Amino acid sequence: MSQEHLTIFDTTLRDGEQSPGASMTREEKIRIARQLERLRVDVIEAGFPAASEGDFESVRAVAESVKESTVCGLARAVERDIERAGEALAGAAHARIHTFIATSTVHMENKLRMGPDEVVERAVAAVRRARDFVDDVEFSAEDAGRSEPDFLYRIVEAAIDAGATTINIPDTVGYAIPEQFGQLIADIRANVPNSDRATFSSHCHNDLGLAVANSLAAVTNGARQVECTINGLGERAGNAALEEIVMALQVRQDVFPCNTRIDTTQIVPSSKLVASVTGFQPQPNKAIVGANAFAHESGIHQDGVLKHRETYEIMRAEDVGWNTNRMVLGKHSGRNAFKSRLAEIGIELESEAILNDAFAKFKELADKKHEIFDEDLQTLVTEAGVEAE
Ligand code: KIV
Ligand code: ZN
Repeated sequence: MSQEHLTIFDTTLRDGEQSPGASMTREEKIRIARQLERLRVDVIEAGFPAASEGDFESVRAVAESVKESTVCGLARAVERDIERAGEALAGAAHARIHTFIATSTVHMENKLRMGPDEVVERAVAAVRRARDFVDDVEFSAEDAGRSEPDFLYRIVEAAIDAGATTINIPDTVGYAIPEQFGQLIADIRANVPNSDRATFSSHCHNDLGLAVANSLAAVTNGARQVECTINGLGERAGNAALEEIVMALQVRQDVFPCNTRIDTTQIVPSSKLVASVTGFQPQPNKAIVGANAFAHESGIHQDGVLKHRETYEIMRAEDVGWNTNRMVLGKHSGRNAFKSRLAEIGIELESEAILNDAFAKFKELADKKHEIFDEDLQTLVTEAGVEAE
């Protein structure tokens, strides 16, 4: 299958920062933005310039220090927000303004207190004003996942006519399920007469743990940008995780029509940097970047991987930036993994009898401890050797 390019729009510095407790200083944003550039993301959403003086300065600093990726600033569909975004992005090599307004009935009636006509007018005015500053304008229909499709078609068509080059369809509250969300993208593309003049994008939240699945369904149905964050950081349960989307596309090129320009070896360094800046460590069993993502404990798995990696691995740890996969010695581990770890740390046993004795002692200890470390092995082997003499 010939692969089209999928734009990776990283919003770690904006939606990720909206994770309670994850706010970042200007210097931290610059450090992460530089790493995102090494990762080769296409667009970095650096912040929300109208939110505070500090965020304005952060977006301005990121815009001035990033050269390859496009730098984006968020703005409500409000003139002052758009002007602040335009000012903050003035020094960027490639700049995008991302303006949004809510389109679901629950948001329009209860939050905006506006009727649909006024919402469309605001969207059009916002996109036009953004075009005064930049050619690259993204429009988001906030809460699109719960909006009336006919109203979405109307506002998307108007936003494209006003000059939006990217149309983002957010599942703001993580309500969608993959089949339905994919169909929504397909329906918007089919029912909006000028849809071929814009790139369609997904922005999925993870309230039901479906953000990545929904984003991939969007790609299958014609989205050519996904919005995501490192480690899936973001409001509430977070956003779609960049590393999972990128690796799903890479590993399953047989089923997806797109690939990215991400340097996958920079995934783990990016994850570690974001974790150290925010203090939010990914859980150990988190796909791709969790500490156990490439660790094998059970004897059957360890034996399989030692004989042929692909028995239990669908990608290489090194390809996403880990040094190597990891054999964890614990109570499920087998003799083969035990022997192989001893060899790795330079321990050669003089006889099979000593190995058998050491392995028996290892199993006894493993019943009492979660994980057996190299220092434990040294002690075990010494004891086994002494007894065998
Ligand atoms: O979740 C959302 O709807 C957003 C928009 C601002 C794109 O973050
Ligand atoms: Zn969001």
